[in-house]
Amino acid sequence: MREDGRDKQFEGSRRLLERARQSVAGGANSNMRVLPYHLPLAIDRAEGARVWDVDGNELIDMNMGYGPLIFGHRPAMVLRAIEEEIQRRGTVLGFPHELSHQVAELVKKSFPSIDLLRFSSTGTETAQTAVRLARAHTGRPLIVMFEGHYHGSSDAVFHRYHAPLDALAAQAQGRAIPGTAGMNGAPRDAIVLPWNDADTLSALMAARGEEIAAIIMEPVAGNAGVIPPRPGFLQCARVAADAAGSLLILDEVITGFRIARGGAQQRFGVRADLTLLAKALSGGVPVGAVGGRADIMQQIVDGRVFHGGVYSGNPMSMAAALAVQRAYDADGERTFADLERGAAQLAGGLRHIFVEAGVPALVRHVGAMLSCFFLKQEDTPEPMDYRAVAEAADAERYIRFQHRAQRAGVYFHPNLFEPWYLSTAHTPAVIDEVLERLETVAKRGDWLAAGADQPQGVGV
Ligand SMILES: Cc1ncc(COP(=O)(O)O)c(C=O)c1O
Repeated sequence: MREDGRDKQFEGSRRLLERARQSVAGGANSNMRVLPYHLPLAIDRAEGARVWDVDGNELIDMNMGYGPLIFGHRPAMVLRAIEEEIQRRGTVLGFPHELSHQVAELVKKSFPSIDLLRFSSTGTETAQTAVRLARAHTGRPLIVMFEGHYHGSSDAVFHRYHAPLDALAAQAQGRAIPGTAGMNGAPRDAIVLPWNDADTLSALMAARGEEIAAIIMEPVAGNAGVIPPRPGFLQCARVAADAAGSLLILDEVITGFRIARGGAQQRFGVRADLTLLAKALSGGVPVGAVGGRADIMQQIVDGRVFHGGVYSGNPMSMAAALAVQRAYDADGERTFADLERGAAQLAGGLRHIFVEAGVPALVRHVGAMLSCFFLKQEDTPEPMDYRAVAEAADAERYIRFQHRAQRAGVYFHPNLFEPWYLSTAHTPAVIDEVLERLETVAKRGDWLAAGADQPQGVGV
């Protein structure tokens, strides 16, 4: 690094972003890609588990497009399907075609709780539609959400999911804090609870169930440090929703086709009334799906609840999704077993590295989603909700480690709440390479204490 604090290694990326900022707000199209503590990184090309930046640096990617790229970057079957489809029907049609029901039939095979579904282009749209469906179906205003859980950026659900601890309600339940300026008080009618706390959830549902349209959650808290559900918690939510006549909406945008073919519902044996899917549903093209019980989805059929979208179910995206769904259907068992083994290999290797380095760390994975962060104190009990992770984790040390990892050729997101994502391109040999590179970084120890390159600000 140069004396002025700039990385010569990423000079091309820095210059590219400087130019981009003249026309694209902030230089990129998601705030999550250009946080104040990001080292610059602009990508020239990608293949399998790797990306090459505009400076020619090669990096093993553990972010994988934030989850969709379960078959790696540029999977041949997806590219082939897209090529064939754009030669045949093009990119968008505005008419029904056979691909979307073919994809839907395969999705239903993986998620037996889905009778009917609708495709859209993003996870955000699916959550917005699900909340509307729930309110219209029950005639009730409130939704119950959880600290640290993210369901996209629509006003329906975008609360301040990574709120600083002092902004959270002192008591166990509070009104949702708006996730951004400009929301006019939304998300309205949302109660936010700590997750994984069966007693609080049951008590709220018993006291106010008649006002509650739905409970919505990530069944593994992927945006809060990959926290698994406590045994019985998902079942408790199911029972509490049923007793109150409320719906259970499982946001499986990350977990669907990642922690098992049938997501958390398969892995933990729970049934949703409405399920949200995106990301690994389609292997890297924009597809979201909201689906569930026929009587709830019937409201869309009747036109009572509106759902549209120029690009919803477009043939190009559906062709890609069909290729991916057929791959799960043909070989899903092996795919998910391999992903699970790869994640266990990575988690085991990371734990070993941090024990050797004498750094207290917590590495967890549920299937092919993993988190790894440094603990402020040794002997911290395993944090099982957002507050506990935010309290226990050393966010600044994580950023310092991420910067050095990026320089050494491993990319993961510098915000510790963003999961590491594995793909089938992360073979055992590639994972060994990740571990070798990170071991070298860890051993240098220059990331342990704050230095000249101390990051500014650690929040999202
Ligand atoms: C659990 C979850 N739900 C919903 C979304 C929103 O998806 P999208 O960014 O496609 O709108 C995300 C995105 O990261 C997510 O992680």
